Amino acid sequence: MEKFIVHGGSQLEGNVNISGSKNASLPILAATLLTREQCVIRRVPDVSDTNYMLQILQNLGAEVERASGTVTIKCDKLHSHEAPYDLVRKMRASVCVMGPLLARQNRADVSLPGGCVIGDRPIDLHLKGLEGLGAKVHTEGGNIHLEARFGLEGNVLDMSGKHGATVLGTDNVMMAAVLAKGTTVINGAACEPEVVDLANFLVSMGAKISGAGTPRIEIEGVEELGGTEHTVIPDRIEAGTFLVAGAMAAKKDIHIRRVFPEHVKVVTDVLEKCGCPIEIDETTITIGKASTPLGANITTEPYPGFPTDMQAQMCSLFAVTPGISVVTDTIFPQRFMHASEMKRMGADIEVDDGRAVITGVEQLSAAPVMASDLRASAALVLSALTAKGATEISRVYHIDRGYEHIDDKLLNLGARIDRLPA
Ligand code: EPU
Repeated sequence: MEKFIVHGGSQLEGNVNISGSKNASLPILAATLLTREQCVIRRVPDVSDTNYMLQILQNLGAEVERASGTVTIKCDKLHSHEAPYDLVRKMRASVCVMGPLLARQNRADVSLPGGCVIGDRPIDLHLKGLEGLGAKVHTEGGNIHLEARFGLEGNVLDMSGKHGATVLGTDNVMMAAVLAKGTTVINGAACEPEVVDLANFLVSMGAKISGAGTPRIEIEGVEELGGTEHTVIPDRIEAGTFLVAGAMAAKKDIHIRRVFPEHVKVVTDVLEKCGCPIEIDETTITIGKASTPLGANITTEPYPGFPTDMQAQMCSLFAVTPGISVVTDTIFPQRFMHASEMKRMGADIEVDDGRAVITGVEQLSAAPVMASDLRASAALVLSALTAKGATEISRVYHIDRGYEHIDDKLLNLGARIDRLPA
């Protein structure tokens, strides 16, 4: 286990290149199970979650090569339809092999993911959608067994849940439906850019999909899919995290390169309202610190609303912004583990019922803190950048799950951050 020592007070400047999206890569890697032919996927971030997904695919029989962000996968000889607990428990997104395995092999045995620190994360909507396509589902010994002996059949499905649409649930059903007989309509589909990227990948394999990016996706099943080449979209959450780093600690301004500004519009809109100077080019966003920083009230919502994956990072900014800001997470109301760690650094945050009321203080101060999940860890790194003294952040394996070389990227911008064995 490693830890970070972040020395507060550095002023950031320069450029940072955003990596390919973790959350787009994971289902795209899983979708390679749908064809016997070779797929080449570029800009797959080198983070532990993509490594876990590749391990799952290799365990199923895939041949995988990885070099400089390009992953080449061939799934011509699958010898298993199982994703076992020792792999699934490391990463919940492993469940997105259910749809492609079922479509390709008419069977999938996937371990049920266990508890999650960001809240209860059921997969009932994934299963409801797959049952709607004709799969028989039963759970035993902690595993979900799905079977569609005579293949899947298209249907009209409603995937909306009480917290809105499900991203990986939409992905799973879309991946199953591409090889089902007939037409599938997914109503209440998630509209996130990562769903659109997966749809584009599937279409490039020969799938017939329309409406991705809207709440109604229509899929006409085809007999088989072929190999393809694809470049993953930029990671909008990594971009958002560096935007907040700029808002908190830029000397003059920092340039965030290789982004799709449209994907982070809701974040740049909020930061502009907070007083940050922002310039948007085709694929670069430039941000500086506000001369008169203002707080804001934000509520997380499905895309294009404010992403839950950026909520923790905004808490770091508001913790040192004068006045009172309110952050409400409607998607994962229990996702406030960062708040108690930030309080150890002197933040004034009261969390109740999915809502954090944050009263900005002048400066946080260094303390030993513990990373608890991916985005909470990012929030602690951001808080530490401007804190007084050297903050020790333990359990940084959480941050390595989803941020590619975050310490190197911050060092490049002028931060002082060391990675040490714990
Ligand atoms: N939900 C259900 N039933 C289901 C599925 C989801 O009730 O069957 C609920 C969830 O409990 C939650 C809401 O629906 O309240 C949305 O969850 P969703 O299914 O969309 O989450 P996910 O697909 O499992 C992805 C991202 C998460 C991100 C969420 C929300 C990946 C690999 N993960 O998860 O990313 O927070 O969408 O946008 O794409 C992260 O990167 O840090 C992360 C947690």
